[in-house]
Amino acid sequence: MPTITKTKYKVKEEVNSKAEDLFQPYNLGARPFLKWAGGKGQLLNKFQALYPQQLKAKKIKTFYEPFLGSGAVFFDIAQNYDIESAYLYDINDELILTYKVIQKDVSKLIDFLYRYQKTYSRLDKEKRQDFFYDQRTNYNLQRFNIDYNKYSESWFPRAAQLIFLNRTCFNGLYRVNSKGEFNSPAGDYDNPTICDENNLLAVSKVLEIAEIKKADFKEIIKDLKAKSFIYFDPPYRPISKTASFKAYSKHDFADNEQFQLALLYKQLDKKGSKLMLSNSDPKNLDPNDNFFDEIYKDYNILRIPARRMINSDPSKRGAINEIIVTNYATA
Ligand SMILES: C[S@@+](CC[C@H](N)C(=O)[O-])C[C@H]1O[C@@H](n2cnc3c(N)ncnc32)[C@H](O)[C@@H]1O
Repeated sequence: MPTITKTKYKVKEEVNSKAEDLFQPYNLGARPFLKWAGGKGQLLNKFQALYPQQLKAKKIKTFYEPFLGSGAVFFDIAQNYDIESAYLYDINDELILTYKVIQKDVSKLIDFLYRYQKTYSRLDKEKRQDFFYDQRTNYNLQRFNIDYNKYSESWFPRAAQLIFLNRTCFNGLYRVNSKGEFNSPAGDYDNPTICDENNLLAVSKVLEIAEIKKADFKEIIKDLKAKSFIYFDPPYRPISKTASFKAYSKHDFADNEQFQLALLYKQLDKKGSKLMLSNSDPKNLDPNDNFFDEIYKDYNILRIPARRMINSDPSKRGAINEIIVTNYATA
C-alpha cells in the first residue's frame, strides 16, 4: 500500500506542526472563515500532490464538494487551478446560510461582525463569558424563527452570530447536541478576530463561481456535469471506541451512510468523474480493521500522516493517518 512519507514534504510538515490554529496559510487571499472539525487546511500541501492530473492540466472545469464544512479544499482549488464552476453542499443549514450571505451580501455581514468585534473587545473576561452564553442561548432559540429555505434580511445577523460563536467558543469547535442545539462552551482568547474583513471580501469573490446548496451528499448525482472533480470529506468514522463525535448537525453519519457513500462513489466513477475521498484510518486504532479497504477495494487507497486538531487535550492530538481513496492513479 503506498504511503506518502517522502522527504519533499518535510519542510512543510514542520511548519504545519507548529501551527496551533486550524487555519493554514493559503497562496492567495481567501481561506476558510470558520474553524471546523475535520478542516483540511493542514493537509492541503499533501492533497495537492494527489489531485488528478487532468485538474493540473486544466482539463477539469467543474469541482464538487458535497461535505463542504469550512471548504479548505474548495478555496485551494478555486484559487490555484482553472475551474469555472463549483457545487458546494452540506447538510448543515447554518453553514449553508452563512456561505450564501457571504456570497450575496458580504458588506452587510461585515457591518454586523464589526459590531460584535467592538462590543466583545470592550468587555472584561467575565462579561465576555456572559455575552457568549447570551448569544448562544439566543442563537439556539432563534433557529425556530429562521426560514432556511428563503433568503432574507434575517440571515445577516444569523450568519454573524454563527461566525461570532465560532470565533469565540472553546477550541473553535462547532458542535450540536441531538436536539440540534449548539453547545460548545465559551473560549478564552485575548484578542479573537471576529471580523476578518479582508478575508470575507476575498471569500465572497471566490464564491462567485459557486452554487451553494443545503443538501444531502446523495443529491450530487442530480447536478453532475462531465469532466468534473469531486472531493468527499464525510464525517469521520470515530478513531477511538469511546469517541462518537457528532459535531456538525443532528444528523447521524454511521457505517450505513459510509456504505451508501461507497455505492455513490461507484456510480460516479462509472460516469467518468475524477474522485478523491478522505476519512480517518480505522487502522489507527485497530490494525486489523479493513472497513475502508473493503468498501473501496476497487480503487486506489493511500494513507497519509495527519494531525487531528479537534481534541481538547493537546496531548491527544498526536500523529495519525488519514486514508485517501482515488479512482485515478496518483504520482
Ligand atoms: C469532515 S467535515 C468536512 C470538513 C471540510 N473538508 C473542511 O475542510 O472543513 C464533514 C461535513 O459533512 C457534513 N455532513 C454530514 N452529513 C452529511 C450528509 N449526509 N450530506 C452532506 N453533508 C453532510 C457536515 O455538516 C460537515 O460539515
